[in-house]
Amino acid sequence: MRKWIVAGNWKMHNTIAESIALAKAIKEGSAGIQSGAIVLAPPFTALFSVGETIKGSNLSLAAQNMHYEDKGAFTGEIAPSMLKDTGCAYVILGHSERRKYFHERDNDVNLKVKKALTSGLIPIMCVGETDEEREKGVTQDVVGRQVQQGLNGVEKIENVVIAYEPVWAIGTGKVATSAQAQEVHAFIRGLLKNTFGGKKADDICILYGGSVTKDNVGDLIAMNDIDGALVGGASLKADGFLGIIKEISGRK
Ligand code: PGA
Repeated sequence: MRKWIVAGNWKMHNTIAESIALAKAIKEGSAGIQSGAIVLAPPFTALFSVGETIKGSNLSLAAQNMHYEDKGAFTGEIAPSMLKDTGCAYVILGHSERRKYFHERDNDVNLKVKKALTSGLIPIMCVGETDEEREKGVTQDVVGRQVQQGLNGVEKIENVVIAYEPVWAIGTGKVATSAQAQEVHAFIRGLLKNTFGGKKADDICILYGGSVTKDNVGDLIAMNDIDGALVGGASLKADGFLGIIKEISGRK
């Protein structure tokens, strides 16, 4: 059985002190939950402090991005080993905001995914279509390309997490319906089956992201191929995020 994952993507929010306080509240509120994985992705500046705060708990640490080189003259970038040094187990890669504002392409995402795997980090690879692409009816073409190119040459697929995040649902309050999300999740799992085989594809965790809240996550998580959530806005308040964790851990 696939395990569920709930990841909070804090984006460019929270000072170190705010991050520690939020992590503490989430740690305390989720202390009894052992089954899935609860992942916090604070900004780089708070990674180490949050890592220390959640040490020995059921929470894991994630970064929101990384470079695909080990070291070197890449001003402003962060290497995989530096993330591991802070206590990271996961790294979010190819988020639509990285693709849109920082021009990351499928090839960059692919290099990062492969590097994360060889560095012992679990990549959470994000894919998703824009509003315009959905209107045009090319959702599967876009998501299919992002999945295939992002995973090109990847062997340890069982160590990859995929997040389907329709761009039109991110930060808009316009969550995908459970049927819309399930359709794309099943499509992604089908693609993975063709490439990697049924057993491996069945074991891969596919998260939904885009305006998830504690009030709408129940319908989404009831779907067969939705294994958890990547949460932005609603992960910034302990109550909201704990509500999502409780919904998911109670149903999966
Ligand atoms: P949102 O963001 O929950 O605020 O829509 C999700 C994400 O960008 O990962």
